[in-house]
Amino acid sequence: MNTLLQINASIHAEQGQSSQLAQRFVDAWSARRPHARIIHRDVGRDPVPHLSAERFAAFLAPPQARSAAQRAITDYSDALIAELRQADLVVLGLPMYNFGLPSQLKAYFDHVARAGETFRYTAQGPVGLLSGKSAYVFAARGGYYAGTPLDTQSRYVRDFLHFVGIDEVKFVYAEGLAVSPESKASGLADAVAQIEQLAA
Ligand SMILES: Cc1cc2nc3c(=O)[nH]c(=O)nc-3n(C[C@H](O)[C@H](O)[C@H](O)COP(=O)(O)O)c2cc1C
Repeated sequence: MNTLLQINASIHAEQGQSSQLAQRFVDAWSARRPHARIIHRDVGRDPVPHLSAERFAAFLAPPQARSAAQRAITDYSDALIAELRQADLVVLGLPMYNFGLPSQLKAYFDHVARAGETFRYTAQGPVGLLSGKSAYVFAARGGYYAGTPLDTQSRYVRDFLHFVGIDEVKFVYAEGLAVSPESKASGLADAVAQIEQLAA
């Protein structure tokens, strides 16, 4: 594995707990792989526009028929997809906000889910085109959800990554961050212990 794409999604940018855990992993991982390349994408700091009818029409338009405005839209989406294509490993800092993923991350997903680019339709159903990659997700939550029916966030993120062809997806959770100082400390310590193992 030579190229890692780090996607942070916290509204607090690199100060977010999910960003800090992702960064901790990236630091440990890259220390062992000094020649690796790290690509950074922070959708909290540099938000991806929400998908609109205009943007979606640009995705669907045949390349030679696109207006200048439509080309700008697809060039931007293409650049996001190019980062994903280059990555052997995707590292995702994933905050939970109001039971779900940050809307900034959803907007990013909406710009990289492109028929013919990251998935294609077949008679057997959709097939993801970003094969041969892994994703490690560092999920920070105020409460406790992992392994319960309320954790629709993990399911959704895993399903989305599978949809575009990223089959190997691992989650590291830091939970209970808002329950008490003790639960925060132990939630972060659990996550850090897993990070050390994962980066080895
Ligand atoms: C607007 C907002 C909504 C939140 N909603 C939830 C929630 O639904 N469930 C939960 O467990 N924690 C919730 N939290 C707590 C966050 O998950 C926690 O602060 C976590 O550290 C966020 O990740 P970040 O620090 O990387 O931004 C919420 C926090 C904010 C700011």
